[in-house]
Amino acid sequence: MSPSEPLPAAVGEDAAPPRTAALVVPHVAPPQTPRPLRLGVLASGRGSNFEALVRSSRHGALQGEVVGLVVNTPHCKALARAGRLGIAATVMNHHHYGSREALDHALVDHFTALQVDVLVMAGWMRIVSPVLCQAYDQRLVNIHPSLLPAFRGLNAMERALAAGVCITGCTAHLVAPEVDAGPILIQAAVPAYPNDTLATLAPRIHAQEHRILPIAVAMAGQRLFARP
Ligand code: GRF
Repeated sequence: MSPSEPLPAAVGEDAAPPRTAALVVPHVAPPQTPRPLRLGVLASGRGSNFEALVRSSRHGALQGEVVGLVVNTPHCKALARAGRLGIAATVMNHHHYGSREALDHALVDHFTALQVDVLVMAGWMRIVSPVLCQAYDQRLVNIHPSLLPAFRGLNAMERALAAGVCITGCTAHLVAPEVDAGPILIQAAVPAYPNDTLATLAPRIHAQEHRILPIAVAMAGQRLFARP
């Protein structure tokens, strides 16, 4: 095709791309574990991923039970959801701890007492220290709204839009001490359309987070039982 020839309609500007919700991740069920997992959740905000985990475990897709939620922000929506869902919730306001390590020690004590197998950072807006990473080595899971390693850190969706990406998504991964780093468990790719805004893109990404997080948690649980 010469440079002056118009692009075929299928890829030209006039062709409206079909709007799909997600590009990959087939409908896979969370893997099975030898016994139901005891799950702890950390949240700071809305808590929609926390609720997705509770629902997935109650409807049998995820073999496990959410035995406790900790929030660091006293009035967050996640706390209200825990009340509605009947999940024991505790506020650990980070302002009341002298250091990151002090908060993380309190978290380890709390979730150890609850005999938690896998701990999930579901919108936990705190950088975690090696104290938590080591105590929950290979069983601390984070969910992040980008295809890591792209767009680590805050405002990932806004930055993906600003960069003009056509494909973005979400990642569930095991947590290493650096921000949004560690072995990737599962990702879902989500299309970003030219006229997308945060308001239109975010629900598409959140819907996929709610699908992949229970799968990632079960994967972490499976690895836990497979350890020598
Ligand atoms: C999610 O987008 C997650 O990827 C990020 O924080 C957000 C939490 O959303 N880490 P919610 O509180 O679960 O609704």
